Amino acid sequence: MADKMKVTIDGHSIEVEAGTTILNAARMIGGDLVPPAMCYYSKLKGSGGKCRTCLVKVSKGSEKDPRPMPKLMASCQTQVMDGMEVESKTSPEVIEARKGVVEMLLINHPLDCPVCDQAGECDLQNLSFDHGAANTRYEFDRRKFDRIDIGDKIQLHMNRCILCYRCVYTADQITDNRVHGIINRGEKAEISTYIQNAIENDFSGNVIDVCPVGALTDKTFRFKNRVWFTKPVDAHRDCDNPKCKGKVVLWYKGEDVLRVTGRKDKYGEVEDFICNTCRFDKKQTSDWTIEGPRQIEDTSVISSNHYEMAHPLPVVEKNPALMEANKKMFTKNRK
Ligand code: SF4
Ligand code: FES
Repeated sequence: MADKMKVTIDGHSIEVEAGTTILNAARMIGGDLVPPAMCYYSKLKGSGGKCRTCLVKVSKGSEKDPRPMPKLMASCQTQVMDGMEVESKTSPEVIEARKGVVEMLLINHPLDCPVCDQAGECDLQNLSFDHGAANTRYEFDRRKFDRIDIGDKIQLHMNRCILCYRCVYTADQITDNRVHGIINRGEKAEISTYIQNAIENDFSGNVIDVCPVGALTDKTFRFKNRVWFTKPVDAHRDCDNPKCKGKVVLWYKGEDVLRVTGRKDKYGEVEDFICNTCRFDKKQTSDWTIEGPRQIEDTSVISSNHYEMAHPLPVVEKNPALMEANKKMFTKNRK
């Protein structure tokens, strides 16, 4: 047990390996005390430390040195110490700070949710709902950029970017040769593909899934539908690409697969990165083995979709087991 560290977050204690961050310890405990995270992504090395969304109060540093830490700490970057005590949602100071961070992130982010493709599955929209203030004090013009096509399947809408760097790390670590990054500094900082080179790589589409806002969107899905009117279904195929497990979510409207994405966990992170062939080229039901309706968090607007029984999904309708699962999901969502 020598390497284990005991940390208490909002009164809940857990023992974790040395080197675990407060955020990951909180995720191991689970529930409301888990700090929100806009830039950290457990599957991307070096991510985190950019957005300050995950601030917490360390009210006791450790058993050896019980002094509180002098300022709020980014939980995705701070490792636990034995005997550490942390306040997350129980601290009014933390809640106030998160409100400030949301206000800061929204300084340049347009309030265009009604026309944004990410609406309904946007981390910033959810964060604003949970922690934001109703008004902004910002009186100046927001930054404005032209939209940029990154290849023929991905569009960058820089106005919405919160500079979380997730897409840069994805391009760096998941694709073979990164051709985009963040150039300039401060207010002028922007994602660039350096003279707008297309990212032509088998895994470039993953930048869409990791983007927490609607800055990087799937051009094959843009404006096709609101996500809460679609029906997400788990499916898989034997993908030829050895790095792709072929496990995806198909987003149906009627019999049409409108888009294909990776499967995201409850923290909005993809379970496995998928290749561009699965994402962009396999849009027929016959390309896939259907597993069943995707379980969506109760708190998501997608899960409050009440259209399940009114217009059952054709592939689901033909399978009694899936029909039953669909019915349960529908009944649960109506409660
Ligand atoms: S485009 Fe999206 S993923 Fe990339 S830095 Fe901006 S917000 Fe983050
Ligand atoms: S999630 Fe910790 S700083 Fe962004």
